[in-house]
Amino acid sequence: MPRTPLIAPSLLAADFARIAEETQRVADADWLHVDVMDAHFVPNLTLGGPVVEAIQAVSPIPLDCHLMIEAPERWAPGYAELGAKNVTVHAEACTGDPRGVARDLRAAGALAGLAIKPGTPLEDYVEILRDFDTLLVMTVEPGFGGQSFIADVLPKVRRARELVDAGHLQVFVEVDGGINADTIEQAAEAGADVFVAGSAVYGADDPARAIAALRAQAAAALTG
Ligand code: DX5
Ligand code: ZN
Repeated sequence: MPRTPLIAPSLLAADFARIAEETQRVADADWLHVDVMDAHFVPNLTLGGPVVEAIQAVSPIPLDCHLMIEAPERWAPGYAELGAKNVTVHAEACTGDPRGVARDLRAAGALAGLAIKPGTPLEDYVEILRDFDTLLVMTVEPGFGGQSFIADVLPKVRRARELVDAGHLQVFVEVDGGINADTIEQAAEAGADVFVAGSAVYGADDPARAIAALRAQAAAALTG
């Protein structure tokens, strides 16, 4: 079955003084990616629950919350409860078995996502991922927008796609970091189907056109 690419603009690259308008500029996208950083798991601080709740109230598209925080078991379900479509925690940040947080996220009505940093092996989490809906393969070190895509992680994307195609896993395979017109095709060919793009969308003169162009490139690479 041909996969349909989902495009998820990252609000991290938007103008935070105009969040409501910035969500409207990407209304044609599939998910709005919201990067929650706590200055502990990553060396940067962004926003948390109250601001995400305000974004949820105005966003024309579903929220994809990427939690780059310590103790995600404690905080993640709150993002599901406020209505996020998908809530992703980092495998490296979980203190216990990540399947517990997956269960809590699903119980609160969200898709459950597990993220792995570039240096984290996929094989350590294959069985655990059977309880998740989304695998986020980081294609940069988490913490900042505008970094260069790390092509060395593509074998993990390929392996994840094999596991999905073989029926072992049922997850979206999401890539995040450095996704733009020069890199999206490689990521799609390797097997990704959700594409986070911050600078490539909000840095464009016309974000709606950038979204359409990225979607067309990914769709061509997925069917080709
Ligand atoms: C990085 C964040 C990304 C970031 C992507 O830690 O998780 O979502 O916003 O930004 P670009 O697309 O500019 O690399
Ligand atoms: Zn992100």
